[in-house]
Amino acid sequence: MADALYYRDYLQLDKILNAQHLISADYGEPAHDELLFIITHQAYELWFKQVLAEVDSVRQLLTQRPVPEKDVATIVFRLGRVNRILDLLVSQFGILETMTALDFMRFRQFLFPASGFQSLQFRVLQAKMGLQDALRHTIKREFFYAALDERDRAIIDQVLQEPSLFRLVERWLEAMPFMEAENYTFWEEYRKVIESIYARDRELILQEPTLTEEEKQERLRQVELNRQSFEALFDEALYAELQKQGVFSFSLRAFRAALFIALYRDYPLMQLPYRLLDGLAEFDELMGLWRYRHARMAARMIGSRIGTGGSSGVEYLMNAAVRHKVFEDITNLSSFLIPPQQLPPLPEDIARQLHFVYEVNETQRN
Ligand code: HEM
Repeated sequence: MADALYYRDYLQLDKILNAQHLISADYGEPAHDELLFIITHQAYELWFKQVLAEVDSVRQLLTQRPVPEKDVATIVFRLGRVNRILDLLVSQFGILETMTALDFMRFRQFLFPASGFQSLQFRVLQAKMGLQDALRHTIKREFFYAALDERDRAIIDQVLQEPSLFRLVERWLEAMPFMEAENYTFWEEYRKVIESIYARDRELILQEPTLTEEEKQERLRQVELNRQSFEALFDEALYAELQKQGVFSFSLRAFRAALFIALYRDYPLMQLPYRLLDGLAEFDELMGLWRYRHARMAARMIGSRIGTGGSSGVEYLMNAAVRHKVFEDITNLSSFLIPPQQLPPLPEDIARQLHFVYEVNETQRN
């Protein structure tokens, strides 16, 4: 029989709890706050590991064609877990902020050129989410490659060969049925509603007695500008152009499918896909919050000094917080929603497919 399991051995505490070495002690001046600094980073890295495990499992489930409905539920649960971990990681900076800038100065000079910039797990997470895809027009891979050693660069190269979460979600959306049927195309029905909304807006402006002719023309111009932003959804060439400019990331078909899910989310079969999209948007949002919170904490600690990793410091971090988005298309769906009361009704056969069907037999009925 195996030996009785012992808590310390199971959790390998001898390794973990002996993995905090103060570099300030090596220079003969042990800094009280360095232990907190190390433990905070290690705690982050442990949670990054868990987030990566969840993201890997989600990517694995999304490689199936088609993705079974029960697995969509599992994906939703796992994204939920990722998001709760990120909540914790955002708030965890508050603990490190109990160290003051002056306390940090006791050991900061010993850290160069090491930096969170070299966090392999953070880079892998970005790559697995699909940030490289989303940023292909704005950031050069060499920028952060230069900070990594050969072993870590090879790992990133390997990850970049794999399909990212973004690409897998896009493919899953593209495969969604329900948008077309005989004599029915979702986006054409949607377009009719959009046109009628704008026609009504124009009419209301023209009939408004309190507006001068000049004010009317100005409002009509605004309505037209707004209408044009919808135009891309019906015009493949225009959509492709905007995609090149980074306005949209998903393919047009994937974007339309996401819009369909958002509009018809009350149908039972659309609820899980809707929650999946919502979970992804929250994931992106929380990563942004993490970056913002980290940047503000760094500002308190180092002001406008450059980072130990050699970047411009807080300026770089703030920029990344704003620009490093993967699932912005999902967040932006809100711009394309229409009031539920004006939603075009679905053809009967599609509406039927989107309901769960329960077979009740005679014994159950009595
Ligand atoms: C005193 C506390 C901290 C300061 C002053 C600080 C500062 C910085 C700065 C200035 C950068 C930009 C790169 C550079 O030039 O070094 C950076 C990057 C980074 N730091 Fe921190 N950091 C702190 C704590 C943390 C903690 C606790 C984590 C948790 C893992 C962390 C993770 C990262 C990551 C992942 C990056 C890369 C971000 C990106 O490229 O988008 N940092 N940090």
